Amino acid sequence: MITTTLTVTTSTTSYPVIVGAGILSNLADYLAECALRGTAWIVADEHLTAIADQTAAHLTAAGYRVHTTTVPSGEQSKSFGELNRLYDWMIEHGIERRDVVLALGGGVVGDLAGFAAATILRGVALVQIPSTLLAMVDAAVGGKTGINHPLGKNLIGAFHQPRLVLADTNLLATLPARELRAGWAEVIKHGVIRDAELFDALETLAATQRWHADNPATWDATDPALTGELTNIIARAVAVKVDVVSRDEFERGERITLNYGHTIGHAIEQLLGYRLLHGECVAIGMDAAARIAVALGICPPALVERQRNLLAAYGLSTALPADLDRSAILTLIGRDKKVQAGNVRWVLPTAIGQVVVRADVPLAVVEAVLAG
Ligand SMILES: NC(=O)c1ccc[n+]([C@@H]2O[C@H](COP(=O)([O-])OP(=O)(O)OC[C@H]3O[C@@H](n4cnc5c(N)ncnc54)[C@H](O)[C@@H]3O)[C@@H](O)[C@H]2O)c1
Ligand SMILES: [Zn+2]
Repeated sequence: MITTTLTVTTSTTSYPVIVGAGILSNLADYLAECALRGTAWIVADEHLTAIADQTAAHLTAAGYRVHTTTVPSGEQSKSFGELNRLYDWMIEHGIERRDVVLALGGGVVGDLAGFAAATILRGVALVQIPSTLLAMVDAAVGGKTGINHPLGKNLIGAFHQPRLVLADTNLLATLPARELRAGWAEVIKHGVIRDAELFDALETLAATQRWHADNPATWDATDPALTGELTNIIARAVAVKVDVVSRDEFERGERITLNYGHTIGHAIEQLLGYRLLHGECVAIGMDAAARIAVALGICPPALVERQRNLLAAYGLSTALPADLDRSAILTLIGRDKKVQAGNVRWVLPTAIGQVVVRADVPLAVVEAVLAG
């Protein structure tokens, strides 16, 4: 079994992030190594019920007391209602301070169960077991947890670092192809912002054309060689997040670079009423950000082409949807959470593997880029 162990180290804590194919079958050993011996509270996405049951059986056999619940799939589960249900479930069944919450699912379950773990009894241990590519390379690492408020996404939350993250790439076998592709956008983003070798590896993999012919950027998960190669690539992408979070736990500086492609991406996501997936919007936003960098003269035009080709190879379009109101994007950008003191802070590439943060991008440049 190929596994990569990374370590998040912040000023307050340190924890392992393990990436591998099939590692979930060793969960009990990993928990013991992290000195997590209390009752296990598995919170699973409804699409992972079978995996949750297997996991519960595995932990029970290893001597753990286990409770399991499932959460309805979708963003609407990051709600007060669902959070309350988890609190009721935990309190009614007698959760204790030494227990551990296991979040098994994508970013929705990770954020929701993570916030429950952060707040129940003033905080219990959390283990993230991400089941989407996006959650593996992004959401599960870094300690941001939370739910949505009717007036906006992710407005209620807490930093609560997990004690362990287990990214088992075998879980991706059942992930819908579109969700997988949306995750590739974040993987490619990590290459562009910090790891040119990761970008190269993604290009090489794309060139070998071992994808399912009818479903770009998905692969035959029963091919162990290919799964191994992909697991290594995913581990490299996770390493970028691990590295950035280790340097900037509370998003005071460098962590903003992870928002590459997100300024315009978030605006598109909102304007289209979430018709496109987050990663699909980020791909469009990355293309726009790179073109802004070219317009400012800080980035070679060839980067735009290379990035576009790679995104396309992973099934991602970079075209702004035709029906999108360009001026509404500009209005929304002004309200983006990365706005500091009235200026949008743009994360812009200068080369593959390198970005700068600029707060002085003229509105006219953004307008021109959005106009195509
Ligand atoms: N905390 C953070 O730092 C952070 C970072 C990025 C995103 N997020 C949050 O993450 C959320 C998005 O996460 P996501 O993209 O993982 O989406 P998600 O959790 O909604 O999962 C996507 C879909 O895939 C299904 N699914 C998940 N794993 C599966 C599997 N292995 N097999 C079959 N189906 C599966 C889910 O049921 C869902 O329908 C958003 O709420 C976002 O705000 C948080
Ligand atoms: Zn993102």
